[in-house]
Amino acid sequence: MKDRSVAGGGRLEGEVRVPGDKSVSHRALILGALADGETVVEGLSSGADVGSTRTCLAALGVEISGAAPSVRVRGRGLGGLKAPSGDLDAGNSGTTMRLLAGVVAGHAFPCRFVGDESLMRRPMRRVAEPLRAMGAAVGLSEAGTAPLSVSGGALKGIEYALPMASAQVKSSVLLAGLHAKGTTTVVEPAATRDHTERMLAAFGVPVAVRGLKVSVEGGSRLTAARVLIPGDPSSAAFWVVAATLAPGSELAVRGVGSNPTRTGYLNVLARMGADIHREPARGEGGESVEDLIVSSSDLSGTDISAAEIPGLIDEVPILALAAALASGESRFSGLGELRHKESDRLMGIAALLTSFGASARVENDDLLITGTKALTPAKVDSLGDHRLAMTGYIAGMLASGESGVLGASCAEISYPTFYDDFNSRRGA
Ligand code: S3P
Repeated sequence: MKDRSVAGGGRLEGEVRVPGDKSVSHRALILGALADGETVVEGLSSGADVGSTRTCLAALGVEISGAAPSVRVRGRGLGGLKAPSGDLDAGNSGTTMRLLAGVVAGHAFPCRFVGDESLMRRPMRRVAEPLRAMGAAVGLSEAGTAPLSVSGGALKGIEYALPMASAQVKSSVLLAGLHAKGTTTVVEPAATRDHTERMLAAFGVPVAVRGLKVSVEGGSRLTAARVLIPGDPSSAAFWVVAATLAPGSELAVRGVGSNPTRTGYLNVLARMGADIHREPARGEGGESVEDLIVSSSDLSGTDISAAEIPGLIDEVPILALAAALASGESRFSGLGELRHKESDRLMGIAALLTSFGASARVENDDLLITGTKALTPAKVDSLGDHRLAMTGYIAGMLASGESGVLGASCAEISYPTFYDDFNSRRGA
């Protein structure tokens, strides 16, 4: 992994478009693979994680042509994947491993998922348990981590109460449910991103949503579709916060997904006093889109409740940076799930902000931040976590003097052009 140095100062100006939504991109490739016919995808994420889903699907016999952002997926039909000849390597991508585990559970062949060092440490019992209850044989390490072996086949539908708010687990169970006998229902403890539900509907599958209960019927066939993927709100969040905090900035971020299960961070920034104008734009395939027009402004601290966290889970690092430069105190409650991301992101955020001279501490699963007027330059470690790398780089721009991010190149997981795009919008 490569390091990056970053000089402090400057503002952001002009317009930018972010890469296609990572979550929606994974689902477009997966549902395309399961559909009857050829799915045309526009706006696919160029990130390495979506590349991992593509590689795994190719190993399962799916032909995908073209390069991001425009690809075509030749569907193999429900239950039509082929046995892979070796391990399925999900790289750094939890979404790849967890969603595809649900898909292969519906196929009568054995396969085994592996990943990079970070993914091999992440919890997989959360998918193993429901998939076993549906009838698949699932093997894990003693610690409940990958290698994850799945030997599937004749599944039966279940009603499953998710122990944690996780769109990956919900999606894994629903995808297995398509291959099962009868109805599969997932009950969530809190609403999480609903891209799977929306995209299944766009592929012609009836999905019943009643409050926090989602059901699909086994054997529902998918019809290939044209999928237009919106810009990733989780990538847009870096721009929105950077433009808010860098004095004199005026920036438009165009074509960003505005699915309300993803825009919690905009609500938080609005109540902190950010100046963000949201202009609805044209969306397709069940996903709405907006332009975000941001002018810099002073922020005040806020409390973010545990109930808000699932709607902004991936934006916590950059929101924490906003809180570090806001006046007064902020508290983020109920961040336990952050310990299970690409790094222990909760400790990672606190360490990063502290290095930049901010006051941040972890109390149980809460993060407490006292705002400061200025950051001091620092050298911080990304811990191989793309969202910490980009947060560290922006913190460096907001500090006075020269900062550095070790292992900055992991931004390619979700945003390969981040640093170049960022520097080309930086004015003096
Ligand atoms: C994702 C769900 C979230 C999120 C991740 C992508 C998805 O993970 O953090 O970046 O695409 O379903 P969890 O389901 O583990 O909360």
